Amino acid sequence: MATPANDSSLQAIRYRPGSLQLLDQRKLPLQTIYIDIRNSSDGWTAIRDMVVRGAPAIAVAGALSLAVELFNLENFEGTSQDASSLITKKLEYLVSSRPTAVNLSDAATKFNEIISKAAATTSDAKDVFKVFIEAAELMLEDDVTSNKAIGSFGAEFIRFQLKDINKLSILTHCNTGSLATAGYGTALGVIRSLQTDGVLEHAYCTETRPYNQGSRLTAFELVHEKIPATLITDSAAAALMKAGRVNGIIVGADRVASNGDTANKIGTYNLAVCAKHHDIPFYVAAPLTSVDLSLQSGDEIVIEERSPLELLNAHGGRGEQIAASGISVWNPAFDVTPASLISGIFTEKGVITKKTGSESFDIKGFVQRAQGN
Ligand code: MRU
Repeated sequence: MATPANDSSLQAIRYRPGSLQLLDQRKLPLQTIYIDIRNSSDGWTAIRDMVVRGAPAIAVAGALSLAVELFNLENFEGTSQDASSLITKKLEYLVSSRPTAVNLSDAATKFNEIISKAAATTSDAKDVFKVFIEAAELMLEDDVTSNKAIGSFGAEFIRFQLKDINKLSILTHCNTGSLATAGYGTALGVIRSLQTDGVLEHAYCTETRPYNQGSRLTAFELVHEKIPATLITDSAAAALMKAGRVNGIIVGADRVASNGDTANKIGTYNLAVCAKHHDIPFYVAAPLTSVDLSLQSGDEIVIEERSPLELLNAHGGRGEQIAASGISVWNPAFDVTPASLISGIFTEKGVITKKTGSESFDIKGFVQRAQGN
């Protein structure tokens, strides 16, 4: 099993059994450098330090970092139960790398079920490692498939909702493309699908301060994909809407609560409030692995706070000092957009909508129907 065919798109994750390389996204768009990841410790550091970022890519990269560690592990002396405990412990460690995106912890729960079943049916530790490696590899393939489905469900829905508009201009925030996933992307995947369908007039991307995922990564992907696109500052978004230059906004998600409240990159909430004011539909595009049914609402989502240096220094903290010495800083990496401001949630199983008159989504009901229960 190797990295799945990915059209001509950029690859954040290069994998073949026993070997994992991550594109160092801190260096984009000026340098394309891949870093070797040999084990879960390398994986944890790569996630924490933003070599790889974006909720689905974090989950896939984290799982594969453990897969290569286990593939190359020599002389493991324990039983199948020991192998299962080792994997559980390493997954717990990986999940601790960043708190807000749910995808890696969702994957860890599923992996734990799979390996504990495997450990109960064999005494050979190697069999348990093999089961885990295969499940991690499957995740890499499934992510691309599910993104393509999100893209086509989302594009179809928008085209229907905005059928009076011939060609659509869409605003997006942060980076949700090939670089944030195993390939194709979520919100950016919907924009790609609209472009393929011939109905995209123009894409707008925000800079996404302070880490500039928009100007460094999304702008890079849009140019790479030859999608007609314009970069704006985060603070130009309201003026863009007022000028009537966007017909819809599509963003990704790091964690979606049962009622549809959605955590995503800081600034997403601002866009949703402005969209409401200007009567512009605001959509979330995310795989069901971004849904956290254990949470009733977004109030329970833990928001990561990142280093003050991202604001105090240029280039998201990597450049020279630009802010006054002595100023204090609040730097939440994400915010929560209430379900009431969201027009629809695009998933790989279809579009989740609100009942007429309701302020929230019934995500549990949607998931149950999608699973045929
Ligand atoms: O801090 P980041 O770059 O990991 O934040 C990424 C986002 O907020 C994305 O919008 C989200 O993870 C969805 S990626 C398909």
